[in-house]
Amino acid sequence: MKQKVEALKSEILNFKANKNDELESFRLKFISRKSVITELFADLKSVIPEKRKEMGLLLNDLKNQAQDKFNELIASLEKSNDDQSSAPIDLTLPPIQDTLGSLHPLSITKKRILEIFERIGFNVSYGPEIEDDWHNFTALNFAENHPAREMQDTFFIEKDPDIALRTHTSSVQVRVMEKQRPPIRTLSPGRVFRNEAISVRAHCIFHQVEGLYIDKNVSFADLKQTMLYFAKEFFGKDTKIRLRPSYFPFTEPSAELDISCFICGQKGCKICKNTGWVEIGGCGMVDPNVLENCKIDPEIYTGFAFGMGIERITMLKYQINDIRLFTENDIRFLRQFKSVN
Ligand code: PHE
Repeated sequence: MKQKVEALKSEILNFKANKNDELESFRLKFISRKSVITELFADLKSVIPEKRKEMGLLLNDLKNQAQDKFNELIASLEKSNDDQSSAPIDLTLPPIQDTLGSLHPLSITKKRILEIFERIGFNVSYGPEIEDDWHNFTALNFAENHPAREMQDTFFIEKDPDIALRTHTSSVQVRVMEKQRPPIRTLSPGRVFRNEAISVRAHCIFHQVEGLYIDKNVSFADLKQTMLYFAKEFFGKDTKIRLRPSYFPFTEPSAELDISCFICGQKGCKICKNTGWVEIGGCGMVDPNVLENCKIDPEIYTGFAFGMGIERITMLKYQINDIRLFTENDIRFLRQFKSVN
């Protein structure tokens, strides 16, 4: 019996349980009511009385050892179950979604404007953001003392000769007219700069898309029809347009372009200030002086031009009430445009 106890002792000592069922087989063998130790206690009856006490102490010792080992095994198994790396992988769980980026709202608007005009034969042209006086002002028929040339509007980089950050992308159109012969149908999107205080409505850096069409017999009716086509495509098929007389040095006649308020359906709201109309840009027939400056004969060719602010149109379209949101890079703002493209 003594030998048996010794053998069991070393078995208990060396027992390892990495899984719950190994722990359970330990419990059945050494702890349960039908364990080998219980059997040995039963066998005590057959031990001669002089040795019974000694054997009893031995068996008690064995029983305690088994119980201690059992507690130890439970603790170490629990610890390894807590450890994630050994936790079983649940293949039925749905995967973690990829977070895809989205286009910036200004890029979305620019893309849509270009697509609409590309469908009627306009191409896209780009030019430098740092411009000379000729392309930004003089070729565009700005008078020598025009207020837009003054320091409060233009960020000058150098004086004599004047080099400045372009105040509009009409400068790109001058570059196109100098290089290409009519017919010209082009759009010039891009960043422009004006020395204005940053507020809810205005920024010193913003974006424009300007358009230019020059050919024989281009009329004001063509301009009007093109603007109506754009307004319907961009803001919805029920949109109406209105042209209000205005002034730009490079167009004659000139007009401000309004669209019917698509937010209130012209019933009157905060956005249209109860007028039923919202302004989206300027337009007009290219001034003959501009054509001449670019060596295009105004006796043969006529053309129209238009320009609009991408920020303004985006703010109207998505009812964004602060222009500064576009440049703050707040991910909560940008994420809202995920579903739009
Ligand atoms: N260049 C003008 C602006 O920046 C917009 C415009 C372009 C107006 C073409 C008429 C024709 O405000």
